[in-house]
Amino acid sequence: MLTSSSLSKTSVLRLSTYIHRQLNRPYFASTQTVLGIETSCDDTGCAIVDSNAKVLSETLFSQNIVHLRYGGVNPTVARDLHRDNIELAVSTAIQNSKIEVQNVNAVAVTVKPGLLASLQIGVKYGMFLAKKYNKVLIPIHHMEAHALVARMFHTINFPFIALLISGGHCLLCLVRDVNDFILLGETLDNAPGEILDKMARRLKLRNIPDYSKFPGGRAIELAAGSANKLDYFHFPVPMARVRDCNFSFSGLKNAFDKHLAAKEFNHGILGDEIIPEVNELCASFQMAIVQHIIQRTERAIKFCELNNFITSDNKTIVVSGGVACNNFIFKHLQLLGNDFGFNVVRPPPKVCTDNGVMIAWNGIEKMKKKLSFKKVTLNDVDPAAALGVNISKRVAAAGIQVKLRKIKHL
Ligand code: KG4
Ligand code: ZN
Repeated sequence: MLTSSSLSKTSVLRLSTYIHRQLNRPYFASTQTVLGIETSCDDTGCAIVDSNAKVLSETLFSQNIVHLRYGGVNPTVARDLHRDNIELAVSTAIQNSKIEVQNVNAVAVTVKPGLLASLQIGVKYGMFLAKKYNKVLIPIHHMEAHALVARMFHTINFPFIALLISGGHCLLCLVRDVNDFILLGETLDNAPGEILDKMARRLKLRNIPDYSKFPGGRAIELAAGSANKLDYFHFPVPMARVRDCNFSFSGLKNAFDKHLAAKEFNHGILGDEIIPEVNELCASFQMAIVQHIIQRTERAIKFCELNNFITSDNKTIVVSGGVACNNFIFKHLQLLGNDFGFNVVRPPPKVCTDNGVMIAWNGIEKMKKKLSFKKVTLNDVDPAAALGVNISKRVAAAGIQVKLRKIKHL
């Protein structure tokens, strides 16, 4: 039997050093963990995710209810709420993860694009954490994170097509690698979530108790689901004859306003009253949005296939961003995908909207790729950052014709 008396003094010292190292070694040496911080718009999110795609903890302070009152995100209010919540969001995530913050491998933070003052709050906090615990700080592009987080939940190889639809963005891109994005087209004016939120406010959907707590897009989806007819109101599909992958939603917004004003006038609607055709208006509006999105996505598929950007054994479209939560839109995208042999996938709804998980995961992807990172400063904050290499003109020059699809009740 081994007794302490049978060990030399140096062996005991070596053994105790070994035990000390084992106890203090970073949580599971081969598993990497990243703490991610998201504050680009109106959600303060933090999460700790590991390289096995396991979420160790996550926190999300959503400002949605506050901004519902303004009918859109108020930047000053958003900044103040991020400032109030960031400390709690991060400390709660650390506490719930059951690992020591010293043991995470890196901190990742959204640096672009988004609201300047909101981004700055997250980046300042990320810089503070990284300095305090001597960690690498990984700068994250919010839209890249929306696209790549789908790989946490589905087996998706590069390259794949991504359709990112949210309150601040609308774009189609080809994702060739963790740090290699090709922009095929983007919105020329509003984002779909932005106009859904505005239209929900104009319709006063928050006065209907069943919809009052939901973001505008979800409220419109629910109301549309109860409509008897999808095409009760006529909406012109935007840019139907323009052969590119860009988007435009401002015309739909104007058409919506005209239909609403006419019905309110006809019915003599006052104050908080709601037009009787509310469900039909939501359904026709949503249908026009779907037709527009589907037409651009079909062109992206055809363009990528024509140029051999996508291989026949790996045909995937990722749909992400808050508007990807919309089941009507998503199911029609799946129908489109079926026709071209594409698998259309999305992350779970709470990961489609803004969150810390996608930021932490993007940090993991960048670490796995062994990318190097220069020191992040506040100068890296870029509210209007573009995504990848823009080849939208090349897409337009290809002149690919795509007919509008008939949208069915599902
Ligand atoms: O990605 P996200 O959380 O924030 C941005 O980066 O913009 O997206 C928020 C947007 C809001 O405009 C909200 O109305 C929309 O996502 N949204 C939906 C649905 N759920 C959330 N839009 C349509 N249908 C939904 N079910
Ligand atoms: Zn987003």
